[in-house]
Amino acid sequence: MSGSPTQRPPPAPEPKLRPRLLLAPALLAVSVAVLLAASPSHLPRLLRLLLGPKHSLLRPAERGPLGDASPDAGRPPCVLWMAPFASGGGYCSEAWSYVASLEDHAAAAATNANFTLAIAHHGDLESPEFWLGLPEQSKNLAYRLATARCELSRAVVVCHSEPGAWYPPLYESLPCPPTGYDEPAFVIGRTMFETDRVSPEHVRRCNQMDAVWVPTDFHVSTFVKSGVDPSKVVKVVQAVDVAFFDPDKHSPLSLPIGVSVMVLDDSRLDLVSSEGKGFVFLSVFKWEQRKGWDVLLRAFLQEFSGADDVALYLLINAYHSDTDFGRKIHRFVKESSIEKSTDGWAEVRLIDEHVPQSALPRLYKAADAFVLPSRGEGWGRPVVEAMAMELPVIVTNWSGPTEYLTEENGYPLIVERLTEVTEGPFKGHLCAEPSVDHLRALMRHVFSDREEARKKGKKAREDMVNKFSPAIVARIVADQIQQALASSP
Ligand SMILES: *[C@@H]1O[C@H](CO)[C@@H](O)[C@H](O)[C@H]1NC(C)=O
Repeated sequence: MSGSPTQRPPPAPEPKLRPRLLLAPALLAVSVAVLLAASPSHLPRLLRLLLGPKHSLLRPAERGPLGDASPDAGRPPCVLWMAPFASGGGYCSEAWSYVASLEDHAAAAATNANFTLAIAHHGDLESPEFWLGLPEQSKNLAYRLATARCELSRAVVVCHSEPGAWYPPLYESLPCPPTGYDEPAFVIGRTMFETDRVSPEHVRRCNQMDAVWVPTDFHVSTFVKSGVDPSKVVKVVQAVDVAFFDPDKHSPLSLPIGVSVMVLDDSRLDLVSSEGKGFVFLSVFKWEQRKGWDVLLRAFLQEFSGADDVALYLLINAYHSDTDFGRKIHRFVKESSIEKSTDGWAEVRLIDEHVPQSALPRLYKAADAFVLPSRGEGWGRPVVEAMAMELPVIVTNWSGPTEYLTEENGYPLIVERLTEVTEGPFKGHLCAEPSVDHLRALMRHVFSDREEARKKGKKAREDMVNKFSPAIVARIVADQIQQALASSP
């Protein structure tokens, strides 16, 4: 036994951080300092935590003749989860849901889950707005996990990001794994794409990993078909926070909010319409062609008119693009062949203010149905949030959503054909073109048969709770981590 104080070797000197490892806490500290400008009272404590030598994010192994006696030898191994935790994008919220579930449920989920958890921001820029809108609980968790001790040589590293950010990164980012593939015990790439295949460079990067986690059977199939080693590809579904997105816990936001887009004339924003509508469709997306906002507007404006007691609310995330969506939508409608009914345009409202994460459930709660005629999704986070909030959803039946969307819990939207992506990094890949006519029919149906829609909404929440709750997904993730630990030297 090495427990007796007299046999214990003298304490090893505080190991020096290698310069590039210093990057991690330094980057975090800088970003957190910027993010916390609005609440300076947190700052000194947090900076101390992030920069203090006793709380370095990553510490080199203490090897040598006394290797066994290193302070880490008796500790459980750790999982270093690296993701764009402060970006507010898709990977960001996905990573949060895993980390929060693991923290909350690891002990209960897998009694032999013998690892600790640490996080580092990686793979994308930070969004101060997102960070400040996070619930206090998440911020506290971030402070704790970003300062947790994690010895890289005994760590399972999860690189949860776009593979271009993996070591060596193709753009400026803290690399993942931080020092390449040799030092950590096991390296997992967690990623996903929205098209029918994976590009050769991404396949190469996936195959450098010990394992590649993807969220759906759709991805297992597209990754393997594209050349990723089938023995490395594992389906690990994503969780939705069914305790937070719980309709019983929230009151609806009072509508109307935002600006009415179709009454915009060429020179001014007009706010004439201020009455709430009887039925509210909600769509939540990032401003990209891929999200099918053009399909949505075409279907909605052709199917409904100013005479219908209905409104379409759009919550558009400006992530990586410019704003002024009202004018862009207005221009799109003017330049399209959509005909204005004699009763005028049906109401389209753009939510032109930032809705913090903490207020999202109230927005879903104010809606009667959720709609997203996307051309391809990795997972479809707003869709599962809406489903957890008991909303009936109308979503393209392709890619990520096929993992959870059924005729019983929602309204799968028919894909008319697959079309080639014509620009950007996925040029030449195929993605789905949803049917405008079917979307019109489904929106009309949900608007008319509210009883059926409500039933599907109830079933949607049931499925989210039974299959994708944080507790269930934490167990899946903890099992996979145990397997990784068991298979690493
Ligand atoms: C949705 O897609 C799945 C998988 O491609 C298919 O099996 C299913 O029949 C489709 N459902 C509908 C309603 O089209």
